[in-house]
Amino acid sequence: MSVEEQYRKVFAKSAELYAQAVEVFPSGVTHDARYMQPFPVYVERAQGARKWTVEGRELIDYWTGHGSLMLGHSHPTLVRAVTEQVQKGTHYGANHELELAWGQLVKELVPGAERVRFTGSGTEATLMAIRLARAYTGRRIIVKFASHFHGWHDAMTAGVYPPYDVPSSVGVPPGALADVHVAPPNDLAYLQRLFAAEGDQIAGVILEPTGGAWGTTPFIPGFLENLRALCSETGVLLIFDEVITGFRLAPGGAQEYFNLRADLCTFAKVLAGGLTGGAVTGPAEIMDILAFTSDAKHNRFGKFSHPGTFNANPLSAAAGVAMLTEIKTGEPSRLANANCAYLIDGFNQAFKEVGVTGFAYGEGSMFHFGFGLTGYTEKKDFAKWEPLMQIPGHIASPFRQAMLLNGVDMTGQGGWLSAVHTKVDLDLTIEAFAKTLSMLKAEGVLA
Ligand SMILES: Cc1ncc(COP(=O)(O)O)c(C=O)c1O
Repeated sequence: MSVEEQYRKVFAKSAELYAQAVEVFPSGVTHDARYMQPFPVYVERAQGARKWTVEGRELIDYWTGHGSLMLGHSHPTLVRAVTEQVQKGTHYGANHELELAWGQLVKELVPGAERVRFTGSGTEATLMAIRLARAYTGRRIIVKFASHFHGWHDAMTAGVYPPYDVPSSVGVPPGALADVHVAPPNDLAYLQRLFAAEGDQIAGVILEPTGGAWGTTPFIPGFLENLRALCSETGVLLIFDEVITGFRLAPGGAQEYFNLRADLCTFAKVLAGGLTGGAVTGPAEIMDILAFTSDAKHNRFGKFSHPGTFNANPLSAAAGVAMLTEIKTGEPSRLANANCAYLIDGFNQAFKEVGVTGFAYGEGSMFHFGFGLTGYTEKKDFAKWEPLMQIPGHIASPFRQAMLLNGVDMTGQGGWLSAVHTKVDLDLTIEAFAKTLSMLKAEGVLA
């Protein structure tokens, strides 16, 4: 039986549900990344590093809530915090002490966070950060890097997917992208030329600190430092989009991990303990454009207008406080980072043993694969920047089907570890990976 035939047989109940879902949701899914061929699996419960499909199949999970569950699924501390809060109210339409505690924790952990503003999601956070950069500098251009993802609002649809020539979505008016400049990553000379020509019109540079698509294209050593210097010289704000890296790489996110300072940072995911929520942090001088005392030079309202029904809602605040209290100890990042290095070693060993061309790599607690590629052993090798450093489409679906059959769920671009993946989980995962490579080699999908 082929991998796909086995997949259809084992996950038959998921197939039935999916057949209903296509009548409800476009393509049957509620997030593009959850779409897969011939159908995605349906999950009915999760605990720790595991989740169970509707067929009762146990999976080791490396989606970890799209990277938000640093403490795994339903961690007792978070369950307690959210359960207590849900009984006390889910939305007061008023200020509350938990939002204050949450904001204070963010201030304490994030370098340079003199002020914090909570949003409903990561997309809203990057929307706010680039608008703040424009308001503060009075300039119009935002530079982003090809392959970097910053959510799905109009301006950030530029240069996301290879070959980066059209926006990642239809329906975006050209005007929304007119002042967004997509730069190739790791090319300092390109940026120097751009800054020399248009520096006085550049408001900010936004980036994912570990590289595009949470590190599929890492920055080469020294690039971020040089970019930091370039921004400081020209008054351009450097924006770290820490939606994935924040509270993950280290308690202080990428700024702490790389020992670098951004002017503004955006957060979501781990920030809100696996519930919905985002945030922007930065110096008071910039963030106070949101304040009612802001001076009227910015626009006729005198401030950056910011509503948002679910900003800092009590449930997200409760989960966020519980999560960040654990993160503050430094243990979750330390554990997840060490375990990820172990997993990457195991994957690379499997590539060798099975005789399939490719390699695994990553940063902190995030891992990726370069199928069919060789010649990348160090970060500096990414200077050549092959735009397709993600699992190609014709491999992604069979790879995911085989991994699911072998008891592991990860995205088509790799995965995120939590602090509760155990050594047993990791060894089982490496075994499943080696088995998957063999299965796909036998089918001629991998060579
Ligand atoms: C780096 C980055 N920025 C922004 C976002 C958007 O966040 P959200 O999905 O909460 O809107 C994501 C989501 O994965 C992300 O990875």
